[in-house]
Amino acid sequence: VTVHDQKLHRGDGGELHQFAENGADVLTTAQGGPVADDQNMLRIGARGPALIEDFHFREKIFHFDHERIPERVVHARGYGAHGFFETYESLAAYTRADVFQRAGEKTPVFVRFSTVAGSKGSFDLARDVRGFAVKMYTREGNWDLVGNNIPIFFIQDAIKFPDIIHSVKPEPDRAFPQAQSAHDNFWDFISLTPESMHMIMWVMSDRAIPRSFRFMEGFGVHTFRFVNAKDQSTFVKFHWKPKLGLQSVAWNEAVKINGADPDFHRRDLWQAIQSGNFPEWELCVQLFDQEFADTFDFDVLDPTKIIPEEILPVQPIGRLVLDRMPDNFFAETEQVAFMTQNVPPGIDFSDDPLLQGRNFSYLDTQLKRLGGPNFTHLPINAPKCPFHTFQQDGHMAMRNPIGRVNYQPNSWGEGPRESPQKGFRHFASEEQGSKVRLRPESFADHYSQARQFYISQTPPEQRHIAMALTFELSKVENPVIRERMVSHLINIDETLATTVAEKLGLRSLPKPAEAAIPTRQDLEPSPALSIVKR
Ligand code: HEM
Repeated sequence: VTVHDQKLHRGDGGELHQFAENGADVLTTAQGGPVADDQNMLRIGARGPALIEDFHFREKIFHFDHERIPERVVHARGYGAHGFFETYESLAAYTRADVFQRAGEKTPVFVRFSTVAGSKGSFDLARDVRGFAVKMYTREGNWDLVGNNIPIFFIQDAIKFPDIIHSVKPEPDRAFPQAQSAHDNFWDFISLTPESMHMIMWVMSDRAIPRSFRFMEGFGVHTFRFVNAKDQSTFVKFHWKPKLGLQSVAWNEAVKINGADPDFHRRDLWQAIQSGNFPEWELCVQLFDQEFADTFDFDVLDPTKIIPEEILPVQPIGRLVLDRMPDNFFAETEQVAFMTQNVPPGIDFSDDPLLQGRNFSYLDTQLKRLGGPNFTHLPINAPKCPFHTFQQDGHMAMRNPIGRVNYQPNSWGEGPRESPQKGFRHFASEEQGSKVRLRPESFADHYSQARQFYISQTPPEQRHIAMALTFELSKVENPVIRERMVSHLINIDETLATTVAEKLGLRSLPKPAEAAIPTRQDLEPSPALSIVKR
């Protein structure tokens, strides 16, 4: 076989990889062997048994049998696109991150939008949070801003993540519902978790049924840090603002669209980009210091809180343009591995306990999902700047140290060395305290911002929230859970609580809920829980 045709394949968002093909049109096995017949298995006689000797059949079926990788444990359904980020002006005063040093600098990016709860094959217009994950291939390594289209989250501590996700995913005995929050387990968990109330107001609002990815905001959620060349830190919240503005569909539209075109959001992004209507967002920041943070009556480390834009306006610092669809969905959108831990020098974490937990979870889950420690060798995950590690071997290693040296320091004068100047220096925040499992007092107010969000909505939007709560809770079979939810709503807005209670047919308003998570004793005895057959 002579290699007489070199075809270029792109599968990685920019860089070209060469694959040899043995002739323009001869099908081969994965080993490169030319195939004579791809229609019939090898067998004894035309009607006889198949032969195990048929390596072409075995290889083809073996590969097909292994096509699936585990879907993401959350955010399984997603759609991605390539583009660039353009920095408006130097932010050197706040951060030494290279990506923010020069006005007009363009950095390649890959973005994946997603729903959270549904499986990979679920429909696009579920009432759900949307993921908004951005990978910037900066000159100092990848920066992953793994955000959502809602600026807060359900829980304050990462240790609760498996619980909230188990509760929203299909119930284990019946495996439904597949892609919506309307069920007992979800509302049971929520009603027992007062810290989720602010998020619930957003999720019941029109924000959770966006018209398209192009009309969504994005948020980094947590408080992060910018750190400048003098190692001074400024707290930062990240916001993506869509140039097209914010638009949602109404619930009855969402239900119809899901039936008529479950791929509505995918198709929208594909068509927009293919027709040259490149969607655009501005990256905006809220910058503040500890002194300013101390003036708030909530904690900036609490991921269930926003910093209202009226108190601290957002400033645009750059723009994101999505202008190219992946060549291959699996290679890029499926295999892309976002990790909150991916930050370049000059961007750092705060002590937000949700963020701290995420920094463990993403690396761990990629190892499982992408089948080993070498997932950074996949073109979509590899940095686009020069890089050099002494990591080696493992399953599917595409990059191994060349030559003798695979450690440092070494006496051969070979290979890169660490650099205290250029390298990532963790911000040296002062920390002290005893080792405890304790939620700070400053995280205790679960209702003020939920109320603030509700009253900031226009009357039609408030009606939508009431209708969404009524629809969702009417699917809940257990009356105790319904009532418990209404008891939280009273703490948010009494008119809202009364409307929902009436529509659910509750005879009277329950007592307002306690702001603390109920203990086992609080929940027992609860006769109604046992009499309702689940
Ligand atoms: C996936 C956002 C909280 C664990 C994702 C994705 C997004 C996201 C956007 C999809 C990434 C993609 O498109 O590939 C968020 C936000 C959170 C949050 C904004 C809270 C502010 C958490 C927490 C944990 C967690 C607390 C665990 C402790 C995961 C895991 C995945 C994931 C395991 C799957 C990753 C993969 O397989 O690629 N998250 N998440 N997330 N998240 Fe989160």
